[in-house]
Amino acid sequence: MKRIDRIISEKTDYSRKEIKKLISNGLVEVNGELVKRPEEKYDDNVSVSIDGIEIDTRDHVYLVLNKPKGFVSTTDLNERSVLELVPDEYMTRDLFPAGRLDKDTTGLMIITDDGEFAHNILSPKKHVQKIYEVTLDIPVTKEMKDGFLKGVNLSDGECKSAILDITGEYTCNVTLKEGRYHQIKRMFGCYKAKVVELNRICMGDFYLPKDLEQGEIRELTKEELELIQSK
Ligand code: URA
Repeated sequence: MKRIDRIISEKTDYSRKEIKKLISNGLVEVNGELVKRPEEKYDDNVSVSIDGIEIDTRDHVYLVLNKPKGFVSTTDLNERSVLELVPDEYMTRDLFPAGRLDKDTTGLMIITDDGEFAHNILSPKKHVQKIYEVTLDIPVTKEMKDGFLKGVNLSDGECKSAILDITGEYTCNVTLKEGRYHQIKRMFGCYKAKVVELNRICMGDFYLPKDLEQGEIRELTKEELELIQSK
């Protein structure tokens, strides 16, 4: 339980003095009930409105984006960033992409302001799987499949065992439990293969929703958040 003036000051730019005034002017409601004094205490997650406009009292937000090509997940000022696809209503938050996808990679991307959550789904120690649909310029081979399972050797060390499921002559799904720079492209590079299409479809047990078009973004549900974190 927290004082209502504290809840509001943590989530808005109003000063304590201004909040006191708003309350005495009868402009603050909690769960539809008028607040009478700044000392009144409530749960953090109550619905608060000021002059009829609801304020967002959540600690963190979690968004899922179906990333289109042409957007970077870094903050390179010369490039279009995935953060440009985030609706304005979230712009007061310090959002960042939880994990990188290359400019030409499409698919599942999580955008959040929760650093601990991001660490939990990205750290190789947490064993959260990521599945990618891959199209190559040459046919997929059993040698690649066996090599991925054993652990491909890259310039920055041996990769963890990865699963390669062949889905067509030139296509496969690859499951990784780590995320190094250009990892999939470099792993196939060891077999002289070029990745021509790369699309992430799954993190943990959460699959990219079929109805989320490329470029679309929405909030994750509680159930979806749990699926992402499952090992
Ligand atoms: N591996 C890559 O090579 N690129 C990505 O965007 C993701 C994984």
